[in-house]
Amino acid sequence: MKKIQMVDLRSQYLNIKPEIDRGIQDVIDSCAFINGPAVRNFQEALETYLGIKHIIPCANGTEALQVSMMALGLQPGDEVITSSFTFIATAEVIALLKLTPVLVDVDPGTFNIDLKSIEKAITPKTKALVPVHLFGQCAPMEEIMELAQKHNLFVIEDNCQAIGSDYIFNDGTRKKGGTIGHIGCTSFFPSKNLGCYGDGGAIFTNDDELANRLRIIVNHGMVVRYYHDIIGVNSRLDSIQAAILMVKLGHLDEYAAKRRAAADFYDKAFGNNPHLTIPVRYLKSIHVFHQYTLVTHNIIRKGLIDYLAAREIPAMIYYPVPLHLQKAYLDPRYKPGDFPVTEALCESVISLPMHTELDDDQLNHIVTTVLEFVNR
Ligand SMILES: Cc1ncc(COP(=O)(O)O)c(C=O)c1O
Repeated sequence: MKKIQMVDLRSQYLNIKPEIDRGIQDVIDSCAFINGPAVRNFQEALETYLGIKHIIPCANGTEALQVSMMALGLQPGDEVITSSFTFIATAEVIALLKLTPVLVDVDPGTFNIDLKSIEKAITPKTKALVPVHLFGQCAPMEEIMELAQKHNLFVIEDNCQAIGSDYIFNDGTRKKGGTIGHIGCTSFFPSKNLGCYGDGGAIFTNDDELANRLRIIVNHGMVVRYYHDIIGVNSRLDSIQAAILMVKLGHLDEYAAKRRAAADFYDKAFGNNPHLTIPVRYLKSIHVFHQYTLVTHNIIRKGLIDYLAAREIPAMIYYPVPLHLQKAYLDPRYKPGDFPVTEALCESVISLPMHTELDDDQLNHIVTTVLEFVNR
């Protein structure tokens, strides 16, 4: 059996090697390393795939979020509501821009931001909501957009983990995750569902004026060369990464289907086990399983991880510490116990290997080993 990885980028590369190698070589031959045709081609292909008017490529998902908040003109002291159960980048950029991160708890089944808690957290200082489509399925966007409209708030979707997911509105209309709010942000970090071979990111919007501002900010605030109208940053997707992403975009739906098949396999094995709760599939989203995350009950989680590791099965905890208990983010506004769902999840979740190259032998070995431990 092939060695099991959390994410098997090497096997995936070997399966698409000729296409990837050709894409990289074409960029090298052209020497258009920055803002070359490869970036423009990928940008247009992604716009078409997502059904969005503007994609602004940038250097990574963190900067996609940061630039979005800059483009919306958020000012120090403005409150931005986001989830307490997410990767640090979401809150990091809020803090970095001297905005006030306001955290809210999550739904225990989907791990996504809890609607009722958002409403309670809105104050006259609230300017934006940042729902995170955690682990690959969308937050309740229809209701979030209604709330935003009612309170005149911007919505930035943190779609770093859910590119390719669909959101289904009550009337049956579908939109891609990240294309529903005023702005969507994604990361092309190598292990992401659409990952490059380095860092990369993108910002999505349907708003022409906002797109223009975003493009200016990612390029040093420059409108005419060497004339800087606003303060910007240097945040670019390089051409080699764009060429790789162009190839992988062509496989994205097939990759999502493979991830869902692996998730189905896990669900079948663990669905009725009293020690494990399988991830809830939210009916209004098509899950793309960036992660497959179980909630454990009445077992020693560390024991399970060690047991798996001894049998060459990696597993991870996403995330071990809620944002409000991270050292750098300790704040007198928050204390342990404030976000009970998040805190319980941080103590009990475990993510199993999830990628596009898992085969039945590997999946069988993983589920048999997990069940051996939890059922003993
Ligand atoms: C939810 C979430 N937000 C933001 C980011 C930041 O993306 P990047 O690592 O490309 O900066 C990530 C990925 O790491 C993420 O998972």
